[in-house]
Amino acid sequence: MKCVDDFRLRLGQHELVPIMIGGMGVDISTAALALEAARLGGIGHISDAMVHTVSDRRYETRFVKDRLKHYKYNVQNMDKSELKFHLGHIEEATRLHVGRTMEAKQGPGMVFINCMEKLTMNAPKETLRVRLTAALDAGIDGITLAAGLHLGSFGLIEDHPRFRDVQLGIIVSSLRALQLFLRKNGRTHRLPDYVVVEGPLAGGHLGFGMDWAEYDLATIIAEIRAWLAAEQLDIPLIAAGGVFTGSDAVEFMEHGAAGVQVATRFTVSKECGLPDKVKQEYFKADEQDIEVNTISPTGYPMRMLTNSPGIGAGTHPNCESFGYLLDANGRCAYIDAYNREVEAHPDAKKVQVMDKTCLCTHMRNFDIWTCGHYTYRLKDTSVANAEGNYQLLSAEHVFHDYQYSKDHKIALPA
Ligand SMILES: Cc1cc2nc3c(=O)[nH]c(=O)nc-3n(C[C@H](O)[C@H](O)[C@H](O)COP(=O)(O)O)c2cc1C
Repeated sequence: MKCVDDFRLRLGQHELVPIMIGGMGVDISTAALALEAARLGGIGHISDAMVHTVSDRRYETRFVKDRLKHYKYNVQNMDKSELKFHLGHIEEATRLHVGRTMEAKQGPGMVFINCMEKLTMNAPKETLRVRLTAALDAGIDGITLAAGLHLGSFGLIEDHPRFRDVQLGIIVSSLRALQLFLRKNGRTHRLPDYVVVEGPLAGGHLGFGMDWAEYDLATIIAEIRAWLAAEQLDIPLIAAGGVFTGSDAVEFMEHGAAGVQVATRFTVSKECGLPDKVKQEYFKADEQDIEVNTISPTGYPMRMLTNSPGIGAGTHPNCESFGYLLDANGRCAYIDAYNREVEAHPDAKKVQVMDKTCLCTHMRNFDIWTCGHYTYRLKDTSVANAEGNYQLLSAEHVFHDYQYSKDHKIALPA
């Protein structure tokens, strides 16, 4: 019987333990978590989602305060189109976050950054170019393009001196998305170094509609593999979404995946950025406490715990501080939903908005508890004390459990 450690993932010159810890914004996949994966010979991801607030929290900058001060005059105005991001600040914050992380890196593995296209930041192309370029400048080992089709993303960095050497990957949930990506980025004459195929059981935003339950990861991977073989394209595929044990990972690798991307099991690790109280919510969740809904203003369905405090909160939009989901015209679906409720209840001190959430605010405050489908199994990965609180795990413990376990066994902490 095989375990994950019997396999290796080859990326360029690198030979890695085929375990990637997926990007989890906003600072849920912390630098500390990513660095552990790298130290242990795998790949960890940091995320550049809301990088200003991450930098403020970690590196004592004051990007968000300064932005709010600058735009304070607009707080009561529901037209947010004036709220541009200062490109120099995005660059500075990204360089800090990536640079400090890379300085601390030890061991044979790698640290990548997860860049979501849906963070349109009121100027999608310009801001994404700066995000990608600054990460490359600061020495990131690789970039995983996420939450979007990224049809022009290679073009944004094709002149960067590291463009042909750095590891570049894309997350897709269908063969069609991969075909589009390859066709549209083809003019840069550069293939992705890896493709993460993310199925419908993943955490965060889903690349499926509300009919997500009709899809299955193994089938999507098989389709993509067959097409790549027919096209004579040799690109490693990384299976993601619902890989809960080392044996799950082995099954995907025996069917041609080169590695796995996992996340949910690390949400209850000490290194994960969620507050400890929230980690207990993840441990204690049962299957009926997890839902896929459409409250994210991005338009993608998102999986989360049903008791997330951000659901229905009716927060006043905070785009003057954040504003990461403002589209090219300065609009966000949450602002429209909020305005509708304010108009419908003119005398209410506080409104409730059930159909959308102010995702920036709530991800910043760890109030939307996004999670993978198998979160309800986390209680089987640890031990509880007399009060019913579970012992947090070290990232090393979880990583090694994926790496060495056989027969779907899960090692409990000592
Ligand atoms: C808490 C949480 C936050 C996530 N945030 C992101 C994100 O910001 N960007 C992204 O591309 N994927 C995100 N994901 C998806 C993971 O990176 C990963 O691909 C997926 O969850 C793997 O499946 P698993 O959680 O069943 O192991 C998130 C997942 C979780 C659990």
